[in-house]
Amino acid sequence: MSASQWLPDSWRAFPIKQQPRYAEQSQLAGAEQQLAKLPPLVFAGEIDNLTRQLAEVSHGQGFLLQGGDCAESFAEFSANKIRDTFKVLMQMAIVMTFAGSCPVVKVGRIAGQYAKPRSDDFETQNDLSLPSYRGDIINDIGFTAESREPNPTRLLNAYHQAAATLNLLRAFAQGGFADLHQVHAWNQDFVAASPQGEKYQHLADQIDQAIGFMEACGITSQNTPQLHETTLYTSHEALLLSYEQALTRQDSFSGRWYDCSAHMLWIGDRTRHPDEAHVEFLRGVHNPLGIKTGPNADPSELCRLLEKLNPANTAGRITLISRMGSTQVTEKLPALVRAVKASGYDVIWSCDPMHGNTIKTGTGYKTRSVDAILKEMKGFFAVHQAEGTHAGGVHFEMTGQNVTECIGGAYQITEHNLADRYHTHCDPRLNGEQALELAFLIADTLKAARR
Ligand code: PEP
Ligand code: CO
Repeated sequence: MSASQWLPDSWRAFPIKQQPRYAEQSQLAGAEQQLAKLPPLVFAGEIDNLTRQLAEVSHGQGFLLQGGDCAESFAEFSANKIRDTFKVLMQMAIVMTFAGSCPVVKVGRIAGQYAKPRSDDFETQNDLSLPSYRGDIINDIGFTAESREPNPTRLLNAYHQAAATLNLLRAFAQGGFADLHQVHAWNQDFVAASPQGEKYQHLADQIDQAIGFMEACGITSQNTPQLHETTLYTSHEALLLSYEQALTRQDSFSGRWYDCSAHMLWIGDRTRHPDEAHVEFLRGVHNPLGIKTGPNADPSELCRLLEKLNPANTAGRITLISRMGSTQVTEKLPALVRAVKASGYDVIWSCDPMHGNTIKTGTGYKTRSVDAILKEMKGFFAVHQAEGTHAGGVHFEMTGQNVTECIGGAYQITEHNLADRYHTHCDPRLNGEQALELAFLIADTLKAARR
């Protein structure tokens, strides 16, 4: 099918993976029709701005920070939770910008991250098998047949929660909360007393001094909006295509199609087959796209994917999100980096050091060790240094809450502590302190690379 034959529903003729089976197709169609009438969540001009900023990153003039929940939940939706995620993203970004002297493009896994791919269609507990939990946009996490039944009204709940989340994020970004005079306020109480928190306080003091100097020179929040506000873009995995299609709109100025459910969408490692529905859908929308690239990715297939998703080779369109695992990154990544370089396609290489490093403890918790996360990141940077390519970003699962889901880090959470505050609806996330520790490490690496 040529690019001109693309329509928002052309994916429906293709094989598709990881979709729920709704008992009542008419109810699903009803939800899709209602969604299609609701306002878009983001605007085409914002999406193009992000593509332009990512184009700079792909040319080595910046760094992409993408992060947030593995799965946002309906039950834990609150202003404080959104605020805390915003704070930790701002904190990480300011560390990288200031200590790393590098502009940072901030993209949250937020305001739409409700659908999850699963390795198994069923989950078994005590001889009872039920459909797996697939994210709050699809079914409920409770282990009963009723909870696990896919329910189309959840698409509308997800839309409304995304809209309310985005509204607050925009208020924080533009209403003064992101003002550089607030850098101290982004350090949360539970982080402030830790070594990372102290290191951050020190950096915030330096920023205060720098701002004082700039103000004395006449550069103030009043005449320089960059000091007073920021932009946080949104992203999620484009998995549930009924939702994505219903929010896909044609821009009246350019005639181009945009998936207005978020600024950036990514394709998961399980659904990136070049001849299947997810790739078919995403090739037609003009949003910047992430492609999760795991250890099974094949160099020539990856190049075919780039040809399909970015035939015009637009800079900033594609971010390859490498998620190899700490033991495989140095072995598997080089061949992919070389193939993409030889193909001439312009991409950002970003590192997701989370999804290849998930383990299960004896007590049944899914966790990740901060050591493995660090090791994968170091391996990723080393490969790019050796290949002469730009390591352009990171992709994390983290939260502003004081959770105990990943083991290790400066505070040394052990297997034993996992039960204390394990709240994730899907994969284990870094807490604020662990996230800050990684931000300092990245800042050091960025600084070394610029020298
Ligand atoms: C995720 O990002 O939550 C995810 C499921 O990733 P992947 O497709 O890389 O496994
Ligand atoms: Co995850």
